[in-house]
Amino acid sequence: MFENLKEQAPDKIIELISLFAADERANKLDLGVGVYKDAAGNTPVMRSVKAAEKLLLESQDTKKYVGLLGDLSYVDAIRELVLGDTVEAGRICGAQQPGGTGAIRQLFDLIRTANKDATVWISNPSWPNHETILKHIGMKIGKYRYFDEATCGVDFAGMKADLEGAVEGDVLLLHGCCHNPTGANITDAEWAEVTEIALAKGLVPMVDIAYQGFGDGLEEDTRGLRIMAAKAPEMLVAASCSKNFGLYRDRVGASLIISKDEAATALSKANLAGLNRTNFSFPPDHGGKVVSIIMNDEALRADWAEELEGMRQDMLSLRTNLANALRLATNSDRFDFVGEHRGMFSRLGLTPEQVMQLRTDHAIYMVGDSRINIAGLPREGLDSFARAIATVI
Ligand code: LMR
Repeated sequence: MFENLKEQAPDKIIELISLFAADERANKLDLGVGVYKDAAGNTPVMRSVKAAEKLLLESQDTKKYVGLLGDLSYVDAIRELVLGDTVEAGRICGAQQPGGTGAIRQLFDLIRTANKDATVWISNPSWPNHETILKHIGMKIGKYRYFDEATCGVDFAGMKADLEGAVEGDVLLLHGCCHNPTGANITDAEWAEVTEIALAKGLVPMVDIAYQGFGDGLEEDTRGLRIMAAKAPEMLVAASCSKNFGLYRDRVGASLIISKDEAATALSKANLAGLNRTNFSFPPDHGGKVVSIIMNDEALRADWAEELEGMRQDMLSLRTNLANALRLATNSDRFDFVGEHRGMFSRLGLTPEQVMQLRTDHAIYMVGDSRINIAGLPREGLDSFARAIATVI
């Protein structure tokens, strides 16, 4: 039987983890997978998370099942964090999910259940797993232009032109903030314009928000998607707590659905629960409980927000310093966009050959499309990183 299985192409982000681990050079630099690292290169458990885990350890007296939708106080905390009071409560339902990927997978599954002929439109490029999951479940994929290779900014005219090909009932997938892999983001005015396009064409927007708090700020990073949520009759949101709560391995995500009315909300909710039941029954509880404790405790919440803001500021200053170092090393403004991009990643616009040369000659690991994890940069070694880039271009 198993001889019938086909070779699987490795995920290019996850593959880098083992390639990097196998490299024995002492000066190697990992700019691959999206994990926040502090100046010492560590990814510590956040203070508020540690405190909430202690509280949980002391107070939890059972491990019995919670419910197919997970911990509803967690789901409500995520709804509030992402949507605020933009949409009336009766039109929203949600489920806890195993990570942002779990949330995306379950929502794609739900789209397929509702309309198996829908095309899901993703940005070109997008987080590679979007396409992989859609292919795996047999959904049609449309791609809209997004990244302007020449400016390393958003090709908004190209995006709009390509979305003309979308038809009623198709799904338009957007990154809520901190676009992965490019770091280039649409403006609030462009969110408003895309909202009008979606409304006029009858597209259902789906927003993947995995980096809230890493871009312009916790509230600011939801501005665009809230512009959309205020107007869209139906919308899907996949949220992740991997990055902003540093809960990567605990798998903490949520899927939210905005429906037209209360009857449709009840249907959406039942389907979310049913999909969870068929895929894994109950979502993992621990991380969601931790988030719920933090979000419902004023002091913990303030401490969490402060630590998150510290990470954001750190990445912002790394951006500024890297842009300056690249200016000096290349004697050009070619890489000034690094300072304009937001979030954890920037796509540098290098060729796959240049990316390989950096790996071979300088032990610098980045994704093949030249995406770098800004938080992986050495705080004291930006000049030598910039010089390495200069030698390969
Ligand atoms: C990334 O893009 O590096 C992260 O979202 C981790 C992942 O699962 O790919």
